[in-house]
Amino acid sequence: MDLPTAFEHALPSAGWPFAGGQGTLAVFIAADAWSRWNAEAFALLDIDERERVLRKRRPDDRALTTLAYACHRLLLSTVLECAPGEVPLGRDARGCPVVAGDRLLTSLSHADGLVAIAVSSAGPVGIDIEPATRAGDMVEIAGRVCHPRELAALAALPDSERERALLSLWVCKEALLKAAGIGMAVEMDRFEAPTDRVLALPGNARNGTATIRLFDGGERFLAAVAAAPGAIASTWLAPAG
Ligand SMILES: CC(C)(COP(=O)(O)OP(=O)(O)OC[C@H]1O[C@@H](n2cnc3c(N)ncnc32)[C@H](O)[C@@H]1OP(=O)(O)O)[C@@H](O)C(=O)NCCC(=O)NCCS
Repeated sequence: MDLPTAFEHALPSAGWPFAGGQGTLAVFIAADAWSRWNAEAFALLDIDERERVLRKRRPDDRALTTLAYACHRLLLSTVLECAPGEVPLGRDARGCPVVAGDRLLTSLSHADGLVAIAVSSAGPVGIDIEPATRAGDMVEIAGRVCHPRELAALAALPDSERERALLSLWVCKEALLKAAGIGMAVEMDRFEAPTDRVLALPGNARNGTATIRLFDGGERFLAAVAAAPGAIASTWLAPAG
């Protein structure tokens, strides 16, 4: 089975989820499950994407980025109903992925064998994924990640919950920064990222609002999507067989 076919079969249903109209979707992928298609994935990339892959020094990073870019194209090709090579996917001056001439906004994250992709027809969208094992690295940068009110809330947590809560905040803030179309132009400790209310996008690059949804992948990952208020369809994408 070729990669586009395997990808299509892994989706929950034909036309998912834009068959019903406007919305936001998020997919999560473990790269090792798709490694048999690495060469085919590379062949789907445009020249810019190939150059970005080949600049990575570690083979694992090259494989992960290849799969991330290929799956990004495949998901957009499903939504846009065109061939993967015809997806008008580029990036703006800040590095944010953009779909030219279309109402879709999109976001990508890849880390340690994991890929997360978001697409929205409802407005700005950002996604971030981190392996759960990174929680242990977070405590020493808490002061740079957290707003003072968040630091106080973390201090009140039992030790056993603090590291994971911090990683949750990290993915939420990265997702919001990506929805805003900025990297670290606004520092994380300058804004809060609660998941229970509508938030203004930080910075000046994009107007709009977003709510943040946290995805708890247990021992595997933590991820967050920041998107215009409304439903988010999500799926873990694994090839059959
Ligand atoms: C986008 C960003 C915020 C997150 O990057 P990251 O967490 O390292 O990596 P992720 O895989 O989750 O996301 C990278 C993807 O985000 C997208 N991206 C890049 N710039 C972006 C921007 N301005 N807006 C939205 N998305 C962007 C790209 O698709 C990028 O993939 P690519 O590098 O393969 O092209 C990055 O620009 C950044 O600045 N990271 C630095 C984090 C940091 O320094 N933290 C220390 C503070 S305590």
